[in-house]
Amino acid sequence: MLTNDELMTLLEISQTINSTLDLEEILDHALRKAADVVEAEASSIWLVDDETGELYVASATGVREKEVRRLRLKPGKGIVGWVVKTGKPFVTSDARSEPVHARDIAEMLDYEGRQILCVPMFSKGKVVGAIEVINKSQDRPFTEKDAYHLSIFANLTGIAIENAKLYAMLQRENRELRSELGKNPTFGDIIYRSEKMAEVIEITKRVASVNSTVLIRGESGTGKELIARAIHQASPRRDGPFIPVNCGALPETLLESELFGHEKGAFTGAIARKLGRFELADGGTIFLDEIGDMPPALQVKLLRVLQDKQFERVGGTKTIKVDVRVIAATNQNLEKLMAEGKFREDLYYRLNVITIFIPPLRERPEDIPILAEHFLRKYCLETKKKIKGFAPETMDILMSYHWPGNVRELENAIEHAVVLAKGDIITPEDLPFNLRGVEPEIKLMSLEEAVREFKKRHITRVLHETGGNRTKAAEILKIQRTYLSRLIKELGIKA
Ligand SMILES: Nc1ncnc2c1ncn2[C@@H]1O[C@H](COP(=O)(O)OP(=O)(O)OP(=O)(O)O)[C@@H](O)[C@H]1O
Ligand SMILES: [Mg+2]
Repeated sequence: MLTNDELMTLLEISQTINSTLDLEEILDHALRKAADVVEAEASSIWLVDDETGELYVASATGVREKEVRRLRLKPGKGIVGWVVKTGKPFVTSDARSEPVHARDIAEMLDYEGRQILCVPMFSKGKVVGAIEVINKSQDRPFTEKDAYHLSIFANLTGIAIENAKLYAMLQRENRELRSELGKNPTFGDIIYRSEKMAEVIEITKRVASVNSTVLIRGESGTGKELIARAIHQASPRRDGPFIPVNCGALPETLLESELFGHEKGAFTGAIARKLGRFELADGGTIFLDEIGDMPPALQVKLLRVLQDKQFERVGGTKTIKVDVRVIAATNQNLEKLMAEGKFREDLYYRLNVITIFIPPLRERPEDIPILAEHFLRKYCLETKKKIKGFAPETMDILMSYHWPGNVRELENAIEHAVVLAKGDIITPEDLPFNLRGVEPEIKLMSLEEAVREFKKRHITRVLHETGGNRTKAAEILKIQRTYLSRLIKELGIKA
């Protein structure tokens, strides 16, 4: 029934439809082809506005193209309206005599459509619009064959519209997911949501660009090394080395040679010259971890490096100059060590130029859910397990535990849980024994403070469950949404 040329055109249209997801582009291109096939003077694609039911022009060809593109029709109005309403094609060779003809529009456009062919466009069995072609070029009426061609074309276009809508929806969803992710900011590998950590990150970013010595303080496992690495990575020294030294792990003499290096024969066993960590860190950053454990004799040497950027290797006489940025960290109370005479005051003030204090995890419970989920993903990848998330009771425990070992302890707990989990959800039984059913260590605080803390934890938890949706959270909490918003502000919850 179709000639080769016609088949080719249809093929071409269907290829356009399949090759692009930009709806406008599809419609424009396809409509031009279709108008060619049926030899129409003008043509237009009409779509139903999902919200109002009105018809609007998605694409048009012909001398009045511009004006036509601005048209809107009330539901059921005109030939197009009739076609959309009934889902049937319409053909006439004398539009003026048709009762459904929208004469006012023809007059407004100053364009007389005599022969009109209009076919409905379906998507998933529903009429989503119509295609209208006007005036056969040689003043002949539209034929059966024209109607047939146009119907095939309308079907293809319907599919294209469906695809494009789906694509737009996916893109929107993608954007939403991305902005959802954006709510969990990261800096380097640091994951956080709390206001307290946001402040830490803010300082971290600012100190990265300068060369000052930085002292990072915080309990064990709060992420001191992570912050140190982030500073290095964000600094102009990022292409230089990052050299960590644990000052608490070695006895004095070994630590000295580790830091400053030694010459051959400097001591028994020094069979060759060895470069120290300070030399290795030249052009980069040295990270002096557990600085509070540094023996006093070495503290003097360190002070000199900090002041003059120079030192001698153990057993050597040559002065070595280095360009090193120093970041130190400790979980000890340096002030107490200083009072006990174990930490030099002058070194303390040298190091204390910029101090970053990382709060313990229990003081920033808002970080617990995202950290827990981050570690869950990490260990699922490692163990190739498929675990969807945490049972609400599990999250309750994670939120109320006091985390003496901070983020490191949380990470270990999640690793433990992932390894043990039998189902696709982490239950309280999967958690390490010390977390389960153990009453959190009692903190000596007023009832008012305790209630406030509980409220903060509970609301944070519920908000996390609802993906941040306050209306849903308010419903669960059985409070007004406006009251919830006020509480969020008052309790300093990062939502
Ligand atoms: N905000 C965070 N986001 C992601 N991972 C974190 C975060 N904080 C800590 N971690 C992880 O927790 C573990 C402990 O962090 P890190 O070693 O930096 O702590 P630390 O303060 O140096 O501890 P310690 O005093 O015991 O040396 C690491 O595996 C680190 O990757
Ligand atoms: Mg550390």
